[in-house]
Amino acid sequence: MKILITGASSGLGAELARRYASQENELFLLARREDRLQKLKYELLSKTKQITLIPADVTQFQSLQEKIDALGVLDMVILNAGVSLGHSDDIASIEAFKYLYDVNVLANHAILEILLPKFCSQQSSKIVFISSLSSLFTMPSAKVYASSKRALNAYAEGIRYKYAKKGVKVITVLPGFIQSELTDKNDFSMPFLLSTEAGVDRIYRAIEKEKRFYPFPLRFYLIIQFLNLLPQFLRDIIVHSKKK
Ligand SMILES: NC(=O)c1ccc[n+]([C@@H]2O[C@H](COP(=O)([O-])OP(=O)(O)OC[C@H]3O[C@@H](n4cnc5c(N)ncnc54)[C@H](OP(=O)(O)O)[C@@H]3O)[C@@H](O)[C@H]2O)c1
Repeated sequence: MKILITGASSGLGAELARRYASQENELFLLARREDRLQKLKYELLSKTKQITLIPADVTQFQSLQEKIDALGVLDMVILNAGVSLGHSDDIASIEAFKYLYDVNVLANHAILEILLPKFCSQQSSKIVFISSLSSLFTMPSAKVYASSKRALNAYAEGIRYKYAKKGVKVITVLPGFIQSELTDKNDFSMPFLLSTEAGVDRIYRAIEKEKRFYPFPLRFYLIIQFLNLLPQFLRDIIVHSKKK
């Protein structure tokens, strides 16, 4: 399989590259930090059929699209690159807000604008969206991030309905807290925190089983679903009782 992974230089993306490194797979690893991609390439070279590095900033949409187009036909894309603004009660600047949306939402469409016509002419292909459990319940300290991931869920759902008959499988993964550079910034106790390896094990299994919508860990997801069933005034009380 030919697999493109965005945000492959660290965290979940790098670990997913390790999972998919095999003699059957050709990997295309995209991120800005080329040194980190090079290191990963050396680590995985002996296990993998071929690895192509794509040093790129996903917010540079035009050059991103040219690079994606040059890859030709792919079997799977894992849309994993993402940023957060950390957890803060400050009002986000419009620049930071826009940048986050560029990475977490628009860049994925920039990639799919190029890949979807190719996927439609193939017999089968997979698109994996890495969303977040935070998209299902918005904490005030993470409203920009949560809203971007909620937008991603809606977009992914639409892509799934639209392209199902063309053999395009869409898998939306909604992780809770997983150890990575993104969560290393958090200065609070993260419920149900998983190691990178344990988190990516679950993501890998969800992709292999072609789960359409995969929120995890289950206990965290069920708590969120329960909270969402409560009347708004009770949710307000619960949210206000939390510091973050
Ligand atoms: N960790 C969690 O608890 C958690 C939970 C739910 C969802 N997620 C989602 O999982 C995904 C991966 O996050 P992570 O936890 O693995 O964090 P991470 O270690 O910070 O990884 C983020 C990746 O995105 C890439 N990236 C960021 N901005 C980019 C840009 N402008 N252009 C190209 N690549 C860019 C980074 O590469 P460069 O900096 O080298 O460009 C890096 O490889 C994100 O979408 C995140 O929202 C994570």
